[in-house]
Amino acid sequence: MKITILNGSPKGDESVTMQYILYIEKKIPEHDYKIINIAQQIKKIEKNEQAFQEILEQINASDGIIWGFPVFVMLIPSQLKRFIELIFERNIENVFKNKYTAALSTSIHFYDHTAQNYLHAICDDLNMKYIGNFPADSWDLLYPKERPKLLLFAKNFFKHIEDGLATSKHFSPLNFREFEYNPSEIGDKKNKINVNGKKVLIVSDSTDNKTNLGKMIWRFKESFSDEIEVINLHDIDIKGGCISCLKCTYDHQCVYKETDGFFDFWENKVIKADVLIFAGIIKDRFLSSLWKIVYDRLFYMNHTPTLINKQIGHIISGPLSQIPNIKEVLQAQTEYQDSNFVDIITDEFGSSAEIDSLLQDFAKKLISFSNSNYIKPPTFLGEGAKKIFRDDIYGRNRFAFLADHEYFESHGLYDTFPQRDERAKKMNEKLIPLLKIEKVRKKMNFRQEFLKPFKKVITDPTK
Ligand SMILES: Cc1cc2nc3c(=O)[nH]c(=O)nc-3n(C[C@H](O)[C@H](O)[C@H](O)COP(=O)(O)O)c2cc1C
Repeated sequence: MKITILNGSPKGDESVTMQYILYIEKKIPEHDYKIINIAQQIKKIEKNEQAFQEILEQINASDGIIWGFPVFVMLIPSQLKRFIELIFERNIENVFKNKYTAALSTSIHFYDHTAQNYLHAICDDLNMKYIGNFPADSWDLLYPKERPKLLLFAKNFFKHIEDGLATSKHFSPLNFREFEYNPSEIGDKKNKINVNGKKVLIVSDSTDNKTNLGKMIWRFKESFSDEIEVINLHDIDIKGGCISCLKCTYDHQCVYKETDGFFDFWENKVIKADVLIFAGIIKDRFLSSLWKIVYDRLFYMNHTPTLINKQIGHIISGPLSQIPNIKEVLQAQTEYQDSNFVDIITDEFGSSAEIDSLLQDFAKKLISFSNSNYIKPPTFLGEGAKKIFRDDIYGRNRFAFLADHEYFESHGLYDTFPQRDERAKKMNEKLIPLLKIEKVRKKMNFRQEFLKPFKKVITDPTK
């Protein structure tokens, strides 16, 4: 069978993910494998029609397609995202229709599920026959006990194609609401909100006043008595997406640093704001690939947070509620940096007047939270994220990410290891021997014991 691998790693042939494909090829040599370095060649693919056509011909002639990609900031790399956008922009979805497909990712399992969800949804949108995925850890191939799993995944994929088995869809087609938002001016200037010295910044990939997004941004800005800065990502000189050279890992310095305007934008504008609004229009199953370039380029700081203690809100145009994956990614990105995930306002529901009120109250809430320095506790999304990073940087990836390690150590991020929790240690030392005595165990009322320290807080007038 002819199997085409769409390589989403900007490293091209030097990709770790492609080693998994080469291993499959080595062990199951009877098929004809062809790897296309999509991410590495995205600029050429975008500009050169013939290069694009050759890829389509290759896909057309294939029995099966494997999307092979590294997880980049909870999704696929910006370059592969751009390729997917081209498929829809150039209306060539038919080339993919009814092709058997599977997705292989490598990562440290940090939000690999959101990346896989995204790609699965795209395959369903393209009416491909999605067989399954293999979300490997980057190092799995190095362990003999993991390798058979990879081969079983591949064999299952080939068998499925040979037998022409049925596949199920998991994602319904998106319904875009046909609605034109017409904002109103704020009648009474008294209703305008004072930023109270806080720096509010809106970053968007579109500010076109003819679009709902442009109008929502305008209405949001109008809520304030002060002038609010808006940055359009198209106005920033960004030379390209992260190329995964990993030169940043020693000292957080990016190879692009002297060559484009990304750092000036991020370090002198975004990081300095107290309240951030990230705005965008949904493109396929995420924001645009331009937004994804921004997220990926932030990897120059590796796993070190840059947006700490900020109020972060989003204004999004499109069917957000139909793509819970997007909210999960945005919320996780906010929470793991100890910032406050305030809300997402969309044009999905309600009349223009209702959206006006939402934006007005959103502005009020952002300033009020910023004034009181309110950061709500993280959910599993932020808490789990911090723990995965902490363990990885303390452990196997410390030598590679030394700049992160120094930050984690000096900012007490390793103090959250349970073996350093003195309170828990003392409690366990005292209670475990006691609970091993049957008489004590039988007498112990766990509900009341758990409540004792809470009662102290409730009854103590000084707390
Ligand atoms: C820009 C960038 C972003 C990344 N984001 C994630 C991530 O969100 N989750 C994760 O588990 N790994 C992440 N990684 C790690 C890669 O997914 C991992 O190293 C992968 O195996 C690289 O595969 P490749 O060599 O095929 O590019 C990221 C790496 C880079 C360079």
